[in-house]
Amino acid sequence: MNYVPLCFDLKGKHCLLVGGGLVALRKANLLHKGGAVIDVVATEIDEDLKSVVKESGGSICDRAYQTSDLKDKTLVIAATDDETLNKQVSKDAKQRHIPVNVVDNPALCSFVLPSIVDRSPIVIAVSSGGKSPVLARLLRARLETIVPMAYGELADFAGALRGRVKAKINNVKERRRFWENILQGPVAEMVMAGKPAAAKLLFEKQLALPTPVNQVGEVYLVGAGPGNPDLLTFRALRLMQSADVVLYDRLVATEIVDLCRREAQRVYVGKRSEHHVVPQQEINKLLIDYAKEGNKVVRLKGGDPFIFGRGGEEIEGLVKEDIPFQVVPGVTAASGCACYSGIPLTHRDHAQSVRFVTGHLKDGSINLNWKDLVQGEQTVVFYMGLKGLSVICEQLIAHGRGEDTPIALIQQGTTRHQKVLVGTLRTLPEQVAREEIKPPTLLVVGEVVSLHDQLSWFNADLNS
Ligand SMILES: C[S@@+](CC[C@H](N)C(=O)[O-])C[C@H]1O[C@@H](n2cnc3c(N)ncnc32)[C@H](O)[C@@H]1O
Repeated sequence: MNYVPLCFDLKGKHCLLVGGGLVALRKANLLHKGGAVIDVVATEIDEDLKSVVKESGGSICDRAYQTSDLKDKTLVIAATDDETLNKQVSKDAKQRHIPVNVVDNPALCSFVLPSIVDRSPIVIAVSSGGKSPVLARLLRARLETIVPMAYGELADFAGALRGRVKAKINNVKERRRFWENILQGPVAEMVMAGKPAAAKLLFEKQLALPTPVNQVGEVYLVGAGPGNPDLLTFRALRLMQSADVVLYDRLVATEIVDLCRREAQRVYVGKRSEHHVVPQQEINKLLIDYAKEGNKVVRLKGGDPFIFGRGGEEIEGLVKEDIPFQVVPGVTAASGCACYSGIPLTHRDHAQSVRFVTGHLKDGSINLNWKDLVQGEQTVVFYMGLKGLSVICEQLIAHGRGEDTPIALIQQGTTRHQKVLVGTLRTLPEQVAREEIKPPTLLVVGEVVSLHDQLSWFNADLNS
């Protein structure tokens, strides 16, 4: 290891910045975040930099650097493009044993500045020791995506309770186990979901147990999106990777189920449109039973759990049983399919509103409020509409929508099997009858469909 990472407390400490340009400004912003008092010296100083320096309580010297500027400084950064000056600053600082960084010149530095993932008080530093700052930045970008934004709050929450736990659990190993359970369990999830009071209650419950361990399960109702794994949210992925049990639908692609924690028990609760493989009540009961056993239960649902997903029914049971739960939104099929087929759902010239309608009612009929659905300047999206396609087209025409109104059928949208058929209310049923169509499919009706030719960008074949 060429450099040992250390975390420097600069609060209230005077730090010298030599240089007055944009690079100096970036360094000043960093030092300011850490509470340093910044003194800047340069012949020309950027106005924004001056403001940061003033805010930090430091001084502005618009003149050339002098060795005496180093007096009483805790740290020095040289950010100038004058190599001779940079060398001078480095030499002077090193002679006085003051840590010095010269931007983009590791040879002149006694310390380097890492790329940072900031979830204060949690801070992750990534350094290439000055060899490849871009590589360090790319790695940082990856970390940004996997470290939840709310880790800072979680650290503060844990910090405030550390003393209590230490007083209650003497044994170091047991104490560590307790914290591991808290920080990976429902308490942590509640903190990160913005429910600190509920988290505190649960924490107290767990601390009061004779052997304080995590005995309370939780259910996560997770929207898995329309099929393409890239469309999962960070939150969905994180919860999936913490699951003990995963209950999933037929609509959730295998690649997505495979992203769940490898050791998690997988339970298929898929339905077919005609008969339910597992009745809804049974799914509700399974969620409750697994959670009561202390499991983190992920209920993966296609699209968004609250859009034609029966998510509401599933959590009603959890509420009754007082089981903690969270709902994670997903990209709904309408949004995913529309984007991936170049059909904007609203458009200033064509549609001022959009409606999501199910083409398959509870009793199997398609008895919709057709008058509402034929209003002009709106887009209507039919979920589960393939079976009733002919009836839907006939009824829309019978209630006043022009028979040349564009309509698209999108098969397996957002995935490499996506297929888009575009026609009119008059022609599409026949077009569809000639094709081999694979579910799931979505229908989009309205003038916006005419933009598909022009705006389509996703080439399913190239993604296979
Ligand atoms: C029971 S609904 C669930 C909807 C889901 N909760 C959502 O927000 O997308 C299932 C219907 O969604 C539509 N659907 C879901 N994923 C789709 C996809 N990738 N392509 C086309 N339609 C899809 C189909 O109409 C399918 O019959």
